[in-house]
Amino acid sequence: MYEDRIRRPALMNKLMSAEQAALLFKDGMTVGMSGFTRAGDAKALPAALVERARQGQPLQLSLLTGASLGNESDGMMANAGVVARRMPFQADAALRRKINSGEVMFIDQHLSETAEQLRSGDLKGIDIAVIEAVAITPEGAIVPTMSVGNSANFAQQAAKVIVEINLSAPLSLEGLHDIYVPQARPERGPIPLLTPWQRIGATAIAVDPERIAAIVITDSPDSPSNALPPDDETDAIARHVITFLEGEVQAGRMDASLRPLQAGIGTIANAVLHGLIDSPFRKMTMFSEVLQDSAIELLDSGQLTMASASSITLSAAMHKKFLDNIEQYRDRVVLRPQEISNHPEIVRRLGIIALNTALEFDIYGNVNSTHVGGTHMMNGIGGSGDFARNGQLSIFVSKSVAKDGAISSVVPFAAHVDHTEHDVDVVATEWGLADLRGLAPRERARLIIEHCAHPDYRPQLRAYFEEALLGGGQTPHVLEKALSWHARYQREGSMLVK
Ligand code: COA
Repeated sequence: MYEDRIRRPALMNKLMSAEQAALLFKDGMTVGMSGFTRAGDAKALPAALVERARQGQPLQLSLLTGASLGNESDGMMANAGVVARRMPFQADAALRRKINSGEVMFIDQHLSETAEQLRSGDLKGIDIAVIEAVAITPEGAIVPTMSVGNSANFAQQAAKVIVEINLSAPLSLEGLHDIYVPQARPERGPIPLLTPWQRIGATAIAVDPERIAAIVITDSPDSPSNALPPDDETDAIARHVITFLEGEVQAGRMDASLRPLQAGIGTIANAVLHGLIDSPFRKMTMFSEVLQDSAIELLDSGQLTMASASSITLSAAMHKKFLDNIEQYRDRVVLRPQEISNHPEIVRRLGIIALNTALEFDIYGNVNSTHVGGTHMMNGIGGSGDFARNGQLSIFVSKSVAKDGAISSVVPFAAHVDHTEHDVDVVATEWGLADLRGLAPRERARLIIEHCAHPDYRPQLRAYFEEALLGGGQTPHVLEKALSWHARYQREGSMLVK
């Protein structure tokens, strides 16, 4: 049994239940789990750890992953008190509440950096890695499932490795992955990746088989993507971005294949990418961290020749279609460790077009992607900074208002800044797009207000800017009013002046 999945016979005696494997964990340990934006996450161990905690055994862990987990695992573990510290990304409502109440310490980190900090000893080492796998090779190497994330780094560093073999992940996934782990500093040479489609590593994660402490069998699929379908506003945003990119081609700055595309998580970025199906661009490539439904649609339409990422997060229907037709995609999809998919060196070399979503941006182009009202964590910065800082073009999109118009996404002063004006080239809402390249802050402000803000909020923004100009400066502000919009929303339930 399972010979096709556990191809190193000596490891057969490591088969055990999730409950038995959960006994390997001790209070205070640092744990690295596979999983990236709901894809390829460990399915059984989170529930078994929750069960241990429910039995009253002290178990508080520092939990590192690739990115967010599916199956409500983050929420269940947070509610059971299993998670004391969490990094580098999450997107779970229950965990979010624990973070914002101060019960869980959340370290919101660029997704390319976790592996690097572990390697250099800046972070405490991993005690146990839990990695979901399609199979274990005769050499003892681990074949990941629908994401790679930080799994290679966790597995290679951990004192003990628990492998969850997921029978619902078909063996045909083998060969999709390209596992390359950079050398330690200071000996490291350049990462030899010169094109998005190149393969530079192995198809499985090499691990010392002696450190595989347990193998658990599971059989449940990834949680489906929770991105919403495109709507009128996201369609309008897509049209503005596509018109802008057409202008780049007409100006001779790029050809119709553009530059490799990155698109962030969430409804809006997925919808904008979906809009490219009706675009004149051809032979495009993606070098991103997550592939959502839109990427598969573009592969199907033939406009996208290939896509490289660290995870594949799809709706249930698209997930089935992808797996049923894996042979059609095999040569056109590559899954890499997140430190490679998001690596600044490669993002800069390839000249990525980075498309990410803002919660809000200010009149000078500073972007808040993470903190609602400036204080409360939404999800985290994810890979947006890796790409925005280093890409050729950094585009941020947002709907112009949130909460039925009570919140303007264009504000005088971003209440938290993840991406400074120096890293933001273009901002767009359903009303229009502002190309900020080569513009000084005073020029940026007029363009952002007139092109991107909701018309209801434009008079207020104009008035703020005019008053700010009276005080002068490179980046004029009325400091006592800079955050008054957020304060007004807290006080009156709307940013709009009545
Ligand atoms: N203030 C408060 N809430 C806001 C807001 C603002 N300025 N702008 C949007 N929101 C709320 C929306 O109302 C919505 O709330 P709901 O879930 O209660 O309906 C929620 O934020 C999500 O907004 P939505 O418009 O559906 O966008 P999205 O699904 O595309 O997500 C982000 C937007 C910013 C939350 C998401 O893209 C993100 O987490 N980004 C940071 C990480 C990242 O960029 N990674 C990229 C590489 S993976």
